[in-house]
Amino acid sequence: MAIKDLTQPQVERLLKKAQDYAVNPAKFYQHLNHIIVANLFFEDSTRTRFSFEVAEKKLGCHVLNFSAENSSMNKGETIPDTIKTLEQLGVKIAVIRHPDDHLLETLKNESSISFINAGAGKYEHPTQALLDLMTIKQEFGDLKNLTVSICGDIKYSRVARSNVHLLNMFGIKVNICEPEELRVKDATLDKLVTKKTIDEALPESDVIMLLRVQSERHDGQELNKAEYLKQYGLTAARLKKAKAKTIIMHPAPINRGVEIESDLVEHAKSRILKQMSNGVYMRMAIIDEIAGTM
Ligand code: CP
Repeated sequence: MAIKDLTQPQVERLLKKAQDYAVNPAKFYQHLNHIIVANLFFEDSTRTRFSFEVAEKKLGCHVLNFSAENSSMNKGETIPDTIKTLEQLGVKIAVIRHPDDHLLETLKNESSISFINAGAGKYEHPTQALLDLMTIKQEFGDLKNLTVSICGDIKYSRVARSNVHLLNMFGIKVNICEPEELRVKDATLDKLVTKKTIDEALPESDVIMLLRVQSERHDGQELNKAEYLKQYGLTAARLKKAKAKTIIMHPAPINRGVEIESDLVEHAKSRILKQMSNGVYMRMAIIDEIAGTM
């Protein structure tokens, strides 16, 4: 449900298993062909939705893609009743993305189905943080003495929250670089991070992780995009301050020219596409671990 529900040995096991899948990228497995998985996305998604589906298919799972628009929710059926229905049809694992921060907490005792959080409101996006950590580990091997700077719209970011907790679990220093207009008031988060400007953070960062400006969550608050890039975004000029081995990450989708200068998305330092392929392997590892407990 959230990073706090995982232990460090469990995360290390997921990293190892995901890496094992990554070394055989073309391989399809059949060992989970007795498992039905339902994907329920109540918010838009490209990467998470399709990488879960690819992961499920690579493991041999049978996949149901639930679409709220064509479902009996249009006739007033609730999500708990929908889940009870899926349980009766034989679904064992449900992957859920929903705008409510805590929907999964309320569902967990409603059925025998195992839930995977594919993005919960502004609360957590744990599978994204896990694939991010996999990408960092591939790059640096040892996770000791690293500094990750998370820059951008942290206030509305479930990715930032999951990453702060996961990076802390591994003793990685986390800087947060937040725009004036999007300051976070979160005492728990504040204790785990150092606050810096992007210009202060860049020279010491091993990873510079940009976050999308989530305009859809801003209640009409308009930011000037060109000004945002100039003040808070990653530009080629700023990148000159980074160390030789620094990498650029972004969970995507990307607002090119807002939080990151467009050309830097494909820069040699960028691992943004790598994060996407790692998403499949990490989600395979997560599904495999859950299936192993059934
Ligand atoms: N990173 C991420 O969650 O992307 P999607 O919204 O496309 O799933």
